[in-house]
Amino acid sequence: MLLGTYVILVAISIVKCAPSSQIISGVEAIKGEFPSMLSLQRFNSATGWSHVCGATLINFEHSITAATCFLQSSNATEYRVVAGLHELVNTPEQQFLTVSTIDINPSFANDPANGYPNNIAVLRHQAATRTAYVNVIALPTTATYYDQFCNITGWGRYEGGEPAPVLRRAMDRVINDLDCNAAYPTININYNYHICFGDGQISACGVDHGGPIICPEPQGSPAIAGVNSFNDISCQNGPSVYTRVSTYLTWICSITQSC
Ligand SMILES: *[C@@H]1O[C@H](CO)[C@@H](O)[C@H](O)[C@H]1NC(C)=O
Ligand SMILES: *[C@@H]1O[C@H](CO)[C@@H](O)[C@H](O)[C@H]1NC(C)=O
Repeated sequence: MLLGTYVILVAISIVKCAPSSQIISGVEAIKGEFPSMLSLQRFNSATGWSHVCGATLINFEHSITAATCFLQSSNATEYRVVAGLHELVNTPEQQFLTVSTIDINPSFANDPANGYPNNIAVLRHQAATRTAYVNVIALPTTATYYDQFCNITGWGRYEGGEPAPVLRRAMDRVINDLDCNAAYPTININYNYHICFGDGQISACGVDHGGPIICPEPQGSPAIAGVNSFNDISCQNGPSVYTRVSTYLTWICSITQSC
């Protein structure tokens, strides 16, 4: 039943996204600008591999995405991640990486009214090779990122299509939980789980799901502050809500054994 609910939500958001909407209001990324960005793909014997979610490389053998990407199946043999993509289909620098393990956060709840608590998963996969187009991103500090400008990236719905043929990005501010809660009066926005981006004019949509919000850090390189959890159904009237990665650092590092 819960699975059914999710499928319907996705379907509604596809129907309602206006044709003029973009990543929403993003721009095409420059090739190689977001080298940690991955496409999570699932195999279907009828249709072959298809993009289901964004994901982000945190070390060469692990990436993070949303737990809700696996509501239909969490069988690792059905998935791969693809690194080095710019065009979603067939970038020459692409690296196909077989997924061996999917670790869904044990406290994840498929509970829309509470904003999908703990909506995060860690993937273990074949090692990516570092190139000009493939690299890892830092894990975040415990900053709130409130009022700070950050970028979201993905191949999600954009002008006239889904998925977008070329990676897109958009920049806006992270908003605080009170403003985010006000935008979603029927959902419990919780600081521990959620980091909210923008006011809806600029939004993630559709298969941007699972992809990152990337924020500058006061010191050091930009970090992955969140993974896309849910968006306003129209992708135009509310903030994009991300799972706050800093809450899960201990859990992530217990899996990756490398931080
Ligand atoms: C996962 O998928 C593979 C390939 O379709 C299948 O052989 C295997 O039994 C599945 N595992 C589980 C736990 O369903
Ligand atoms: C967003 O990405 C663009 C393009 O890489 C970059 O110039 C800009 O500084 C980024 N914004 C932030 C807030 O990191």
